[in-house]
Amino acid sequence: MKILVTGGAGFIGSHVVDKLIQQQCRVVVVDNLSSGLREHVNTAAKLIEMDIGSPELLALFEQEKFDYVIHQAAQTTVAQSIDRPDRDCQVNIAGSVNLLEACRKTAVRRIVFASTAAAYGNAADIPIPESAPKQPTSFYGLSKWTVEQYLALYRQIFGLEYIVLRCANVYGERQGNSGEGGVISIFSKKLHERRPVTIFGDGGQSRDFIYVGDVAAANCLALTAKTCNAAFNISTGTETSLNTLVKLLEQAAGIKLKKYFAQPREGDIYRSSLDNTAAGKYLSWQPQMPLSQGLGRTYQALKQPGLNQREGREW
Ligand SMILES: NC(=O)c1ccc[n+]([C@@H]2O[C@H](COP(=O)([O-])OP(=O)(O)OC[C@H]3O[C@@H](n4cnc5c(N)ncnc54)[C@H](O)[C@@H]3O)[C@@H](O)[C@H]2O)c1
Repeated sequence: MKILVTGGAGFIGSHVVDKLIQQQCRVVVVDNLSSGLREHVNTAAKLIEMDIGSPELLALFEQEKFDYVIHQAAQTTVAQSIDRPDRDCQVNIAGSVNLLEACRKTAVRRIVFASTAAAYGNAADIPIPESAPKQPTSFYGLSKWTVEQYLALYRQIFGLEYIVLRCANVYGERQGNSGEGGVISIFSKKLHERRPVTIFGDGGQSRDFIYVGDVAAANCLALTAKTCNAAFNISTGTETSLNTLVKLLEQAAGIKLKKYFAQPREGDIYRSSLDNTAAGKYLSWQPQMPLSQGLGRTYQALKQPGLNQREGREW
């Protein structure tokens, strides 16, 4: 089968591409290389340097005749979405609708969409089930939730199949420091350079850190899962506090970090974890990578210059 991966030069997308190639799929990547790197794209995939909002996207679809689309390309930074909601909307909403148009006009079988825990905002129940209210607190969360609703309506009106994967904080090799799991690359870098880290708040704030290889596996399973037209959390279902994360990273590196504590940041969610029961049941997916092992691999990879994402804003 022939699969388009948008954002396939990015952190998660490049791992998805690697996994698809392992499974003997024919893969085309569309990426404008705004944060992704050409070197991350598996050489067995075809890279087309193009913006998902481009008017030329439809012609590419007509020419390539994709069976499936995995849509990873996005403006991925919460802070940037607050600084420039217009830009976030242009890439994440208008770009996605341009892609959906190409999908329905060329009878793509299914689209798998990378959504986020940020769609929930501050939820009352932890771990958060898929049914929890969607109350995003950033334009990034709102733009992802908006595209989820476009997908539901495209299904209803045009019959385009979809699966939404709402990912928790993803970490692993090739990650940058601007995305939702960016704290790991920032702390790893500080560890490597023996520099102190600043923890905003008391360090008790938790996140649900999911390894990128597990996320790539979920994307591959979502292509052909029997149950579709639904959203699934992709997470470990467990909370890890920043203090615990620092300890695990110190163990992975064999180095002690100097920590400074600062005032909590405005708008930061204190606790976060996503319930992954539905993904287990309907996608036959389970996270495989223990956090301590995944952090070790990530730390080793991030130490090597040139192999990682372009650097974004400090977390
Ligand atoms: N990293 C996380 O923790 C996390 C968590 C939840 C959801 N997600 C979602 O997963 C997806 C991948 O995130 P990532 O962390 O790999 O980010 P990333 O920045 O590494 O990857 C995004 C890729 O999309 C490309 N891109 C951006 N705008 C584009 C455009 N207009 N046209 C074509 N290509 C474009 C970039 O060059 C990059 O290669 C995103 O949709 C993100 O919202 C990420």
